[in-house]
Amino acid sequence: MIKIAPSILSADFANLGREIERVKSADWLHVDVMDGMFVSNISIGVPVVKSLRRATDMFLDVHLMIEKPARYIAAFADAGADLLSIHLEADMPPGIHEALRLMDEKKVKKGIVLRPITAAEAVLPYIKDIDLVLVMTVEPGFGGQAFMEDQLPKIAAIRRYIEEYNPTCSLQVDGGVDPTTAKRVIEAGADVLVAGSAIYGAADAEAAIAALRGD
Ligand code: DX5
Ligand code: ZN
Repeated sequence: MIKIAPSILSADFANLGREIERVKSADWLHVDVMDGMFVSNISIGVPVVKSLRRATDMFLDVHLMIEKPARYIAAFADAGADLLSIHLEADMPPGIHEALRLMDEKKVKKGIVLRPITAAEAVLPYIKDIDLVLVMTVEPGFGGQAFMEDQLPKIAAIRRYIEEYNPTCSLQVDGGVDPTTAKRVIEAGADVLVAGSAIYGAADAEAAIAALRGD
């Protein structure tokens, strides 16, 4: 079953309650946290996750685009995140292991994210211990960018690793996903699709979600 995770980065932040209501036929809510260091943009943080938690029962999938994410795992978990995903490029391996340990301590699901430049093999030291791998199909930082075709073989390679080492692990794709590219990432092996502009930019968000599922 394909899961759709609307990215609220493309939502109207002054009306978040209403914007969540628009996407209630989706599966997860994708929350992009940016620190102005790991990526040049600054988006939202812990207080917003806390408010979202009060406003919805949807699964909160929090994508941390921040340097040394171990510093903030407890805060985002306590705010109500269900899953935290951290970039492999955001710290050295001991820092990544520490962040994953803190997620276990807080009982939140654990995700590892790869920037487009990072090779599929980079997930191998972590794959048995995580719940999700996220392959970025744009450079992280902004919504509305063009899908990077050259990431398709990486998605397929990670699907093979998942089948071999941890079949219950989810494979998420984020960046430039629309009904056309969705079909290709699903064929390559993805099972959770993030979409910002393709959903929030549509007049009928529910129809956009159905189109991404291939319905
Ligand atoms: C980009 C974010 C994405 C972004 C995707 O750094 O991680 O989640 O919102 O936006 P679209 O779907 O418009 O490419
Ligand atoms: Zn994201």
